[in-house]
Amino acid sequence: ADRAAFIAALPKAELHLHIEGSLEPEMMFALAQRNGVRLAFDSIEAIRAAYEFSNLQDFLDIYYQGMAVLRCEQDFYDLTAAYLARAAADNVRHVEIFFDPQGHTERGLAFADVVGGIARALADAGARGISSRLIMCFLRHLSEADAEATLDQALPHLHLIHGVGLDSSEVGHPPDKFARVFARARGLGLKIVAHAGEEGPPDYVWQALDVLGVDRIDHGNRALEDDALVQRIVADGLTLTVCPLSNLKLCVVKQLAAHPLRRMLAAGLKATVNSDDPAYFGGYVSANFIAVADALDLERDEIITLARNSFTGSFLSPAEQAPHL
Ligand code: HPA
Ligand code: ZN
Repeated sequence: ADRAAFIAALPKAELHLHIEGSLEPEMMFALAQRNGVRLAFDSIEAIRAAYEFSNLQDFLDIYYQGMAVLRCEQDFYDLTAAYLARAAADNVRHVEIFFDPQGHTERGLAFADVVGGIARALADAGARGISSRLIMCFLRHLSEADAEATLDQALPHLHLIHGVGLDSSEVGHPPDKFARVFARARGLGLKIVAHAGEEGPPDYVWQALDVLGVDRIDHGNRALEDDALVQRIVADGLTLTVCPLSNLKLCVVKQLAAHPLRRMLAAGLKATVNSDDPAYFGGYVSANFIAVADALDLERDEIITLARNSFTGSFLSPAEQAPHL
């Protein structure tokens, strides 16, 4: 209880959050009604009961189904505003949010409505003291040409978009499939991140570094299987955005007591704690901190390090980070 209160009060940043993964069943139901979308579930309880996953793909199948209730700019505003209220309640002072435009444009929505609704909620939160960055992810199960077309669509909105990422089904879709589109994004001045080593092998993390030139690694768990890779990530000073409850729910770890977070810190890796898709995985950022700290019996100085890493690993400038350190 003491540890939970300490964690709750600690200023934090969240660096790995898919905004579509913050869609709670209550809002899913309400938006389905508002938009006349038919859901495969007839109650909020039935939705929650369906959230049993044995791997990443199991989850993604439900995640793409859920986002179908998002139809217009206001829906994206409401979704983002609800997440930001939860984050503020957890003492989150800065957020770097992923969105999956292809999950919406392929359903006929306008790119401008998606990015516009999210950015409007972020701007409102900014006025209340929560800073933010927006990161556009490419869906790796789709083609590089599709990612290129998505980057084209983003061009008129780059004042709202700080970086690009890579998410969705990892195994079979290595980073080098997207070498050209990430090179173009970097040329446009965008930051580069990628999910790597969640289910995929260490080689995919090497590719994220050497082919994409990532500024940060999302997950990175399986990097620990390769000592030379760990040394490289430490030498480059790259941050890992680790997601404990996600790892548990997607069976990346069998139990939280076996989570590699402490080993990451001990190896000199700049790990952070994040919620990934909190509506699906059972908790926001403080719940992730508390669950993993309890399971691993983390010391207070380890918890402080994790919170500090969330600011130093963010895309805030040093001057913007300073008040939080
Ligand atoms: N991994 C890959 N893709 C995703 C995730 C994740 O945890 N969440 C949403 N898209
Ligand atoms: Zn993720």
